[in-house]
Amino acid sequence: MKIENSLPCPQLPETPPQTELQFTVATEEDFDDIMAMSQDIYGGLDYLPTRYQAWLQESNRTVILARKQGKVIALESVCVIDDGETMLVEGLRVAPQERGKGVAGVLLRFCSQLIKSKYPEVKVTRLTRDDKLGPKDFQKYRLITKQGILLVRFCAEDLKLRLAELGPDIGLPGDSLPAPKPPVRLEQAEVLDLFLSSELMQDVLPNATIVQDWQPFKPLPSNMDILLKKDIDWMVDDASQPSVASLCTFPFHVPIGEDWFYLNIDVFGKDLRLAVQQLLCHLRRHTGTLKGHVMCQVFLDPPLWKPMADFFRQTLGVELVKEYTEQCVVESDVV
Ligand SMILES: CC(C)(COP(=O)(O)OP(=O)(O)OC[C@H]1O[C@@H](n2cnc3c(N)ncnc32)[C@H](O)[C@@H]1OP(=O)(O)O)[C@@H](O)C(=O)NCCC(=O)NCCS
Repeated sequence: MKIENSLPCPQLPETPPQTELQFTVATEEDFDDIMAMSQDIYGGLDYLPTRYQAWLQESNRTVILARKQGKVIALESVCVIDDGETMLVEGLRVAPQERGKGVAGVLLRFCSQLIKSKYPEVKVTRLTRDDKLGPKDFQKYRLITKQGILLVRFCAEDLKLRLAELGPDIGLPGDSLPAPKPPVRLEQAEVLDLFLSSELMQDVLPNATIVQDWQPFKPLPSNMDILLKKDIDWMVDDASQPSVASLCTFPFHVPIGEDWFYLNIDVFGKDLRLAVQQLLCHLRRHTGTLKGHVMCQVFLDPPLWKPMADFFRQTLGVELVKEYTEQCVVESDVV
């Protein structure tokens, strides 16, 4: 096994004899090869084509490719966050014909050693999984938090009409109470004030974690710098005493079709009516200008999944793409 480019070469992990792998730092020129091996990933809903160029520009991120006889067969990205204490693993994928042979395991271990040598202060590895974790995984990882994933699909123009019909109502089945006062969309300074206040956010954030899309961050100034550079709408019910907060990542293209978008909304807090109200605001704001098909992923407190799914189906007439799944944030110590 060898690593090319000028990366400091760490003590390499032991390689199974059948995997003659080389490791390289990903560059812009690798884009087509990476897309070629990613074609079947996430049923056409891969975020990497949209994020790849930006990832290469991020100073705290390293994107590593594994090659076999020169051909790209796997990718992993590692981002150093939490004041340098955490390596966040993302984007892991192995070419379909190479799966089940231990490649992901070798790549994970390689990246871990590489990052450890580059950033000796890193203490833990964090990742977010949506596959079913078993006892073997929990021997390796501790669970930090989990959110339910509600995946729905709609046509932006249809939803826009439905939202207009709904008016100011929140439209929860069986709910006749007046709508709560409108939620507040936060400016950057307000985001900092609020999310860095552990006192105000302790009952809102799951295990003191801001999970934005698939990235878990501790509420620290250095992480807020990263988050505030992203295209996100931040919302709360009440900036001085929040019960529910939500982050809407701006819609982005996915490879499934030319006019297909992903719209991801993270909801923190346990109050269903407030959560619904904020979702409606995000949907109104972002479907206003979108044209085409939208896959909308709502991450929320697990007990809110069922009533929220009913709301989407019954009130918004929106189709569920899959039943309940979970987004699990897990971590392990770096040894
Ligand atoms: C998931 C995937 C990367 C596994 O690749 P693989 O080479 O077949 O996996 P391996 O044979 O090395 O065995 C699995 C190893 O990877 C780990 N693994 C599996 N899925 C993982 C994931 N999503 N994140 C981190 N590690 C994962 C396993 O825990 C195991 O580690 P171990 O060697 O320490 O026991 C591959 O099936 C794939 O590319 N799937 C499509 C993309 C995808 O779902 N990626 C997950 C992103 S969350």
